[in-house]
Amino acid sequence: MAPRKIIIDTDPGQDDAVAILLALASPELQVLSVTAVAGNVPLARTERNARVAVELSGRPVPVMAGCDRPLRRPLETAEHVHGKTGLDGADLPEPTLPLDPRHAVDFIIDTLHEEPAGTVTLCVLGPLTNVATAFLRAPEVVDRVQEIVLMGGGFFEGGNITPAAEFNIYVDPEAADIVFRCGRPLTIVPLDCTHKALTTRARVERFRAMGTRVGEAVAGWLDFFERFDVQKYGSDGGPLHDPCVIAYLLRPELFGGRLINVEVETTSELTRGMTVADWWRVTKRAPNATFLRDVNAEGYFALLAERIGTL
Ligand code: RIB
Ligand code: CA
Repeated sequence: MAPRKIIIDTDPGQDDAVAILLALASPELQVLSVTAVAGNVPLARTERNARVAVELSGRPVPVMAGCDRPLRRPLETAEHVHGKTGLDGADLPEPTLPLDPRHAVDFIIDTLHEEPAGTVTLCVLGPLTNVATAFLRAPEVVDRVQEIVLMGGGFFEGGNITPAAEFNIYVDPEAADIVFRCGRPLTIVPLDCTHKALTTRARVERFRAMGTRVGEAVAGWLDFFERFDVQKYGSDGGPLHDPCVIAYLLRPELFGGRLINVEVETTSELTRGMTVADWWRVTKRAPNATFLRDVNAEGYFALLAERIGTL
C-alpha cells in the first residue's frame, strides 16, 4: 500500500519535535514537508526547531516557514512551557538543513493543487494560522484535502492556557474557526485525550535507555517539557500532546471518540478559543469533527518507543 501523504504544520515545541520524529520514522507515511508556524515560540525559532528535529531524524524533508502571527490578534507564545528556545532540554547543534525558501502557505496551496484530490492529509500541531490562510487565499483547495488531523481544544478537561481554552486554538481562534467549518473530514485530538497520555518516568527512561542520540534528545526534551504540567496538575508526567496526531494516523485503534459538532468561541474575551464540543448531541448543530477522548496510553508509548528506536 502506498504511504499516506502528509504535511506536518507545527510550532516546535518539544512535543511537536517528537511528533516529527515519529512521522519520519514511520514508512506508512510520506512527509511531503514540515511547515512552521508561530506559536509556542516565535516563527524564527519554530522554523529553526523544525529543522533541528528533521535533521536529528536523519531523514531530511523540506522545512519551510509560514505565518509569523495569528490572522487578527497579536502572537502569544508559551516559553513558560517550552523554554526560551522552544526546544529546551536537549543540547543539539544548529541545523545544517537549510530552510526551504518557499512560504509554507504557498506550499500547502501548490501541493493541494498538484497532488491528486483527496490524497494529502494536513497534520496540524500548532495554531491553525497557516492552514486557514491557505484556505482563505485559495478556497478551491479545501475540497482537495483528504483529512485534517489536529491537536487542539478541550472540553471536559477545560483549557491549559486559560480556564476555557487550549493553547493552539486560543492563539488563533479565527483560524481555528475557519478550519473547523471547512467541511472536510476533521479529527480533533483535544486535551481530553492527550491528558491521558502522560510522560511517566518509566516511559521517559525508555527513550534514554536506547543509548542513541535521538533517544537521549527525546528524553531530555520530555524531562523539560513535563515540568509545567507536573507542577500544575501534580501528575506523574506531562501530556505528550502532538505525537498523538501522528499515532492516530498510524494506529487509529489506539484512540476513541465521537463524530460530533465542535465550534470555536471567537468573540468573548472570557472564553476566547474555547472549543464547544456537543458531546451529548444536545444541539441540532451538524457534526463536523471526530472528537477523540480516549487513548490506549501504553500502546501509544510502545509505538513511540518502537519507531523512535529505529532512528
Ligand atoms: O496545548 C498543547 C499544544 O500547544 C501542543 O501542540 C503544544 O506543542 C502547544 O503547541
Ligand atoms: Ca505544538
